[in-house]
Amino acid sequence: MANIWAHGNAYEHFMGRWSRRVAPRFVSWLHAPAGLRWIDAGCGSGALTSAILRLSSPTSVLGVDPSAGFVEEARRLVDDERVTFEVMGAEDLPPGQADIVGSGLVLNFTRDPLRAVTTMARAAPGGSVAAYVWDYGGRMEMLRTFWDVACALDASAIDADESHRFEVCEPGALPALWARAGFSEVRSGGLEITMEFRDFDDLWQPFLGGTGTAPAYVATLDEGSRERLRDALERMVHADADGQIRLQARVWCVSGRVA
Ligand SMILES: C[S@@+](CC[C@H](N)C(=O)[O-])C[C@H]1O[C@@H](n2cnc3c(N)ncnc32)[C@H](O)[C@@H]1O
Repeated sequence: MANIWAHGNAYEHFMGRWSRRVAPRFVSWLHAPAGLRWIDAGCGSGALTSAILRLSSPTSVLGVDPSAGFVEEARRLVDDERVTFEVMGAEDLPPGQADIVGSGLVLNFTRDPLRAVTTMARAAPGGSVAAYVWDYGGRMEMLRTFWDVACALDASAIDADESHRFEVCEPGALPALWARAGFSEVRSGGLEITMEFRDFDDLWQPFLGGTGTAPAYVATLDEGSRERLRDALERMVHADADGQIRLQARVWCVSGRVA
């Protein structure tokens, strides 16, 4: 598949609007003190950075992401003198520059999550590292329904379905990874949001944007297959009496102290 993280703007419509709901929940869950130097590893279009700025009174936030398109979008959306955005992978974080590293919906996209987390720990000696990932195989109803429908129509879609690809998103995987990485005071849990879509089009259109795993899969389909997928998905989701479609989404989250 081509670079699925090229366009921050398309991501914003597909998942950014929901990750902006999750990020404040995560920051509140962390209860980090004010006045810390933060790193947002895999900042995307800046959802977690914005929540940190709003809720945690940081001294500084360095947001890094390997996608230049995302960094550009983050710079456009987040205007705050405490923030710097840089094009960089989580594996290349500078050592010793932070008190806390947070990472939202990213670890499963790194080549080696343990290596990424170890680098995050080096970036915040004596501090803490915390992260969250979607519960792709369970209560992430938007993607779960999409992939169930896609796989029923096209057996090869299973290769793209996140629930089969990302071990780090399975229940219990994050605290196990934090234990392997040597963190102490490991805390973990699940956080849920409700995604409300105005109507089916509000749910479907962002799948056509090409950015993100599911949209990248849709982009490989010819027009007929895309229409069949759209119609089958529409039959699977149900609108409430007010016309809105409401789907639950859960993230698994974890935090730990750097030994
Ligand atoms: C699902 S998006 C999440 C973006 C943002 N954190 C949010 O919550 O909206 C995944 C992000 O991970 C980034 N990413 C992929 N590989 C990465 C790596 N090795 N290090 C850091 N970020 C990475 C992508 O560029 C993309 O911005």
